[in-house]
Amino acid sequence: MDLIDLRSDTVTRPTPAMRAAMLDAAVGDDVYGEDPTVNALQERLAADLGFEAGLFVPTGTQSNLVALMSHCERGDEYLVGADAHTYKFEGGGAAVLGSIQPQPIPHDVDGTLPLDKVAAAIKPVDPHFARTRLLALENTWHGRVLPLDYLSAARDFARERGLGLHLDGARLFNAAVACGVPAREITQYFDSVSVCLSKGLGAPVGSVLVGSSALIEKARRWKKVAGGGWRQAGMLAAAAQYALDHHVDRLAEDHARAATLAAGLSDVPGVKLLGQYTNMVFIGVPADRLRELDVHLRGAGIRISIGYLPTLRLVTHLDVDDEGVARVVGAFREFFVG
Ligand SMILES: Cc1ncc(COP(=O)(O)O)c(C=O)c1O
Repeated sequence: MDLIDLRSDTVTRPTPAMRAAMLDAAVGDDVYGEDPTVNALQERLAADLGFEAGLFVPTGTQSNLVALMSHCERGDEYLVGADAHTYKFEGGGAAVLGSIQPQPIPHDVDGTLPLDKVAAAIKPVDPHFARTRLLALENTWHGRVLPLDYLSAARDFARERGLGLHLDGARLFNAAVACGVPAREITQYFDSVSVCLSKGLGAPVGSVLVGSSALIEKARRWKKVAGGGWRQAGMLAAAAQYALDHHVDRLAEDHARAATLAAGLSDVPGVKLLGQYTNMVFIGVPADRLRELDVHLRGAGIRISIGYLPTLRLVTHLDVDDEGVARVVGAFREFFVG
């Protein structure tokens, strides 16, 4: 029985065609800037997203970290969502390694950070306070697509207040596909954007940070300091190139399957559908039956993450097909209805 893993879109395995592209990749030493496939990937994403330069790094966490450390210096502050990955799920890296203070801002339900709350959090210029330098947004946030007019207002706000604007675009292409716009229409508002290739796009490893040449030069140094100076990374860049060539438009299929999954689960007594956004479905189930449900689903070859109670997040991706969605709905129904 094939395993259906709904814990995250990070679990995808490279397809045979992607593996073939990796085997054929031209490589060189990327610390010397000599890996042709890495260089091509960086140039391509920078050009596509409207920036001067790009930097291919091992993870989204490192990409966000080196971005924050390039925008901010010791004693500076970044404004960030209280539930943003860059604040809550990256081990406090900006503070731990960059001496940069985070100022968390509560999200609105749509994932935006209300600009009046952001304004109120900016510190006066005074030695008592950290220097507020940067606003960091996330799109998609928990699957939700930030509205384009909000991004435009955030850009104007950041300019007025002299702040840099960074986007954690781990799932930028999910947002672009959901909006029906080229990704550049989203990234145009930002000074730097981190894009993950290893989420919905299905590459095994890697993120690209894009920004101005000056920012990326700083980021390149921090990447090396953080131990991210990899060598013949071209094989990984080839997987990323393959993903950009073949796996962007198909994200719409993941979104459609998430909608089908949500509709199917909404009919199952005992399951409360809380929402579906792009490739993510959020449900509530009775807490006292959760462990039993997990065991039942594992028996049916289905994995879910039960770590983020009270809400369960189910994520569709490249390795979940229509038959898989039907199997998941059937397994939930069997558990709750019999
Ligand atoms: C929104 C978001 N940003 C950043 C990351 C970090 O990516 P990585 O796991 O490659 O460090 C993740 C990981 O799931 C994420 O969901």
